[in-house]
Amino acid sequence: MDVANATVFITGANRGLGLAFAREARRRGAKKIYAGMRNTGGFEESGVVPVRVDVTDKASISAAAELAADTSLLVNNAGIAALIDGPLASDVEAQSIRMFETNYYGVVRVTQAFERILLTKPHAAIINVLSDIVWLPRPYLTPYAASKAAAWSFTNQLRFHLREQDVQVLGLHVGFVDTDLTSGIDVAKASPEDVVRQTYDALAAGKSEVMADRGTAMLKGTLAAEVPGYITPPPGL
Ligand SMILES: NC(=O)c1ccc[n+]([C@@H]2O[C@H](COP(=O)([O-])OP(=O)(O)OC[C@H]3O[C@@H](n4cnc5c(N)ncnc54)[C@H](OP(=O)(O)O)[C@@H]3O)[C@@H](O)[C@H]2O)c1
Repeated sequence: MDVANATVFITGANRGLGLAFAREARRRGAKKIYAGMRNTGGFEESGVVPVRVDVTDKASISAAAELAADTSLLVNNAGIAALIDGPLASDVEAQSIRMFETNYYGVVRVTQAFERILLTKPHAAIINVLSDIVWLPRPYLTPYAASKAAAWSFTNQLRFHLREQDVQVLGLHVGFVDTDLTSGIDVAKASPEDVVRQTYDALAAGKSEVMADRGTAMLKGTLAAEVPGYITPPPGL
């Protein structure tokens, strides 16, 4: 799908990667852009319509879907992360519940609410914002990683389920991106603009997934190895 022909709805679009998705959609001439966000107060972005939505709140999702019934491209972007001491930390359960509510069930709920809307469009697509973390051992991100791995699995089931109905489902995998989410982490980061450009290009090329940085592409390349990257990450990761 070419974004230029789409009406786009993006969750978590008031900042970070979500805002970059909105701006790049506008740059590419999308018909209409809905920026989903928990708090619309003070949001002003030319050519972008703010819509209140909290992905943990079904009523707000239904209201947003009703308002944005012309959507043909859904971008499930909203997400949260937290650092913990490791897979056996005392807060692993509480943090996992929190991460799953937004990063997994949030994606499921929003996709369910938009399914009927997308199925009535001649060309429709869904982008799910995932991560390299689905394959990368990072014990301090255990709850986040588990929630993103679940969202990846959902993405794969969804893609197969919707294939017959011509809805393109694209998974975006990427490592560190320069947004508020990673502000406290001092590592090399991809720019949100570059990640979004690659994602819309992949969508236009009819692809099912995109690895938006070299490290993530390299990591995915190890999956068929005897010792894949999720057991021993390649050097540099
Ligand atoms: N940054 C990275 O390194 C990186 C790497 C791979 C994948 N990702 C993924 O990229 C996506 C965007 O993250 P980001 O880096 O742009 O982070 P960010 O700057 O922290 O932005 C997160 C966005 O999600 C929104 N959000 C959080 N909980 C929400 C909820 N319950 N309902 C609606 N919106 C909610 C936030 O809204 P508020 O302003 O209201 O908090 C904000 O707009 C996430 O799915 C993240 O997991 C990020």
